[in-house]
Amino acid sequence: MNDFFQKDIISIRDLDKQKLETIFKATDKVINLDPNQRREIARGKTLGYLFFEPSTRTRLSFEAAMASVGGTSLGIADVTSSSTQKGESLADTVKIMSIYSDVLVLRHSLDGSSRFAAEISSEPIINAGSGTEEHPTQAIQDLYTIKNIKKKIDGLKIGIVGDLKYGRTVYSLLQGLGNYDVNVSLISPEPLKIRSDSVYEIKKRLDFSETTNLEDVIDELDVVYVTRIQKERFPDEEEYIKVKGSYVIGLDLLKKMKDDAIIMHPLPRLDEISTEVDKTPQAKYFQQAKFGKYTRAALLGLILNENGF
Ligand code: CP
Repeated sequence: MNDFFQKDIISIRDLDKQKLETIFKATDKVINLDPNQRREIARGKTLGYLFFEPSTRTRLSFEAAMASVGGTSLGIADVTSSSTQKGESLADTVKIMSIYSDVLVLRHSLDGSSRFAAEISSEPIINAGSGTEEHPTQAIQDLYTIKNIKKKIDGLKIGIVGDLKYGRTVYSLLQGLGNYDVNVSLISPEPLKIRSDSVYEIKKRLDFSETTNLEDVIDELDVVYVTRIQKERFPDEEEYIKVKGSYVIGLDLLKKMKDDAIIMHPLPRLDEISTEVDKTPQAKYFQQAKFGKYTRAALLGLILNENGF
């Protein structure tokens, strides 16, 4: 039986290097399979999604992934059109969705929401973003992108730039990178530094340093991972205004980067990467979004098939 069969994906912390590599191999297989063979992977299966927060990429890439492996999707993309509006609890909503689906995908504003849902659901739960805490499938996609493009993860110097306090993709990515021999620079304005409680454990297995000055380190980086400042998570808009626009990757900064460095971003972006960078060879964020479909298809295939695919 494969390790992922009927398992929840709640936290990247549950995935060691071997499990990550299993997903990467499965992703390579999804990419290389003939489309007719690919559609056999989840034929007749249903993915149910519950998005209590907005999403473009995560929800649509799960839907696209499920379609590509022969399954179908149904769900709630906007809770204002669901019975949540009448006061139905998350627990009952999850119970109902697990009646109609073989695997569930949940995004919710509360930390711990996916773990809670997993206790209730009769079908596997995939965390598609919980509060400021975790976004494990984004981290899988990010690690796969690095590996696919740079042909390795070990030995790289990776800069993570922007909102390190509220960005949940950052926490999941750091946990994932903790499985590899990498050097990480965390670059943020002082008020958006990484939360020390969240990196307490990862400090033991990840070599990282912190700075507020991107230009101090930009010429050393193999990967520049840019994040959006998460306005919606600031308790006070005044505080957001103080840090808004702290870092902007433009063509001037690009000239200071290594020629073979890559720029990644989980998206959506606001102004932190100027659009003129999009057509440069270093810009990999749209390819990263494309890999999100393939990594999610691989994960669905592993969860839904006892012996893998
Ligand atoms: N990267 C990401 O989670 O994007 P969405 O919020 O659009 O799903």
